[in-house]
Amino acid sequence: MKQSAIGIFDSGIGGLTVAHAIKQQLPNENLIYFGDTQHLPYGEKSETSINLFSKKITSFLIQKNCKAIVIACNSAASVANETVVQVAKNVPVFNVIDPIVNYINEKYKNSAANIGIIGTKATIQSKNYEKKITALNSKLNVSSLQTPLLAPMIEEGFFNENISNTIIKKYLGDKKLKDIDELILACTHYPLIKDEISNYYQSKNANKKTVDIIDSVNIIAKYISENIKNKNIKNKSENKFYVSNYTKSFDESAKLFFKENIFLEEKNLFID
Ligand code: DGL
Repeated sequence: MKQSAIGIFDSGIGGLTVAHAIKQQLPNENLIYFGDTQHLPYGEKSETSINLFSKKITSFLIQKNCKAIVIACNSAASVANETVVQVAKNVPVFNVIDPIVNYINEKYKNSAANIGIIGTKATIQSKNYEKKITALNSKLNVSSLQTPLLAPMIEEGFFNENISNTIIKKYLGDKKLKDIDELILACTHYPLIKDEISNYYQSKNANKKTVDIIDSVNIIAKYISENIKNKNIKNKSENKFYVSNYTKSFDESAKLFFKENIFLEEKNLFID
């Protein structure tokens, strides 16, 4: 039985961080991934272009019979969410922004904090995070910084080395991010440089307060996996087990042992 997949897209490799985390949460799910490497970086493109690309990719994923669409790109989620929802019709659409907004809201309830955001030009210019975060809690102060070199740098494989360290240091040293308590990595490419970002704060702030770097991909994947379960569109396990001689006790023990449904079938290979 072929079960439909979760369709995931990004401009390039960034969305793989989300896809991987979803697969960890929902190991039985099949994924179809589309990386629009022809048009990378999305963050530098116009809203019209990002909408056009997102529309085409969503149609492709719907044609592939996907049962859910994940916009695993902050730039596309910031400016083309509505377009994707329209094209997907009754297929549920998840983006990478709402789970983080929810997380921040839960964490701070009605208390104050300084939240820093780094992302592409498209994401930061849209002010999507800011609007959503402050609409839920006006005591939160949000400072956003465009970091356009980071996604192309990561896409080209430049991370964990001198060039990336210098660029990261330059961006994070910006005065807009001076007094932040939390940093949102508002680009799905950035988890790939999370260690470098942590190192920056650790070395700089040895004696001062630390900055929490939000573990966005796991928060996003958890949110999506809970929703997929609630919507009852989760894949059934398709583990197939054969025995040369069927016994009820094997069937029951296997189900007990794996704590999920298994399909057991007798297959006697030893008679012609
Ligand atoms: N990974 C994408 C994001 O989350 C886009 C990076 C880019 O193509 O500019 O924004």
